Amino acid sequence: MAGEAAAKVQVVGVIGAGQMGSGIAQLAAVAGIDVWLQDTDRAALDRAGDAISDSIRRLASKGQIPQSGISEALNRLRFTLELNDLRSADVVIEAIVESEDAKRKLFSELDKITKASCILASNTSSISITRLASQTQRPSQVIGMHFMNPPAIMKLVEIIRGTQTSDEVFATVKALAERFGKNIVCSRDFPGFIVNRILMPMINEAFYALYTGIATREDIDMGMKLGTNQPMGPLQLADFIGLDICLSAMKTLHGGLGGDRYSPCPLLIQYVDAGWLGKKRGRGVYSYTDQGNKPSP
Ligand code: NAI
Repeated sequence: MAGEAAAKVQVVGVIGAGQMGSGIAQLAAVAGIDVWLQDTDRAALDRAGDAISDSIRRLASKGQIPQSGISEALNRLRFTLELNDLRSADVVIEAIVESEDAKRKLFSELDKITKASCILASNTSSISITRLASQTQRPSQVIGMHFMNPPAIMKLVEIIRGTQTSDEVFATVKALAERFGKNIVCSRDFPGFIVNRILMPMINEAFYALYTGIATREDIDMGMKLGTNQPMGPLQLADFIGLDICLSAMKTLHGGLGGDRYSPCPLLIQYVDAGWLGKKRGRGVYSYTDQGNKPSP
């Protein structure tokens, strides 16, 4: 039943053509779904077009999709500045900036624009799905669909049920994520859900370790990478995620759960104030002088 509903999803709208939105749009196009990718910034759409094209070609060169799949997937993608173009979508996945005000405003607009049966999903890292749902007349059709970064590579989608999310909508979105080739975990709607509830305090603690001079950034990262068998250390991971996103997630945890342990580290705040937002801006805890993934001092 749910699998059938997911199979009937023919058009997906993705809002926000940044790191996450472009990856999500790619997943849907590769899964055989027509995609509208919307952003308010023309340059972001252009960058997303290039990034998706490069990424799909890389997948084909590794044999992960057939060569014929390249043009098929690219032809399913449409880029737009107009929110109205999403009115044919069966599911909309929102991936704009992590600001509750911006997301609330958008959900209220989406409720008016999209068809009545459309499911509204958010890729938020930490904002309450229940509060976003309250901006709409269809709270049972609002859900969290939290992809990991980068969406095309990471195997997990965390699905967050708002207080009023229906069983049917949950089952449809679960089956859709599986159609994207992902594994699913389900979280109740509390700050940070599962992954960021645990990950963000670890990253914040790594900033405190750097701030209080316990060790160098390299030793903090190497310690956690080799000492706990993670693919990269927490400071490098923060650069990949975006320090602004990490700070915003800590503020949400602190606001929602209270307590000193969720208080954002002053050094993290200072880096964000300086515009050192991580790899996407060429500078975070490390600097990134080229397009490669290797941080330089
Ligand atoms: P990003 O900064 O790379 O991209 C955000 C995009 O949204 C930009 O292109 C911006 O022009 C666009 N935008 C902003 N306001 C808009 C609006 N009102 N309408 C249309 N487009 C708008 O951000 P990123 O990293 O892709 O994050 C997006 C969302 O995904 C956030 O909610 C974030 O918390 C979540 N997320 C981020 C992860 C990460 O590792 N970066 C991981 C999982 C979730």
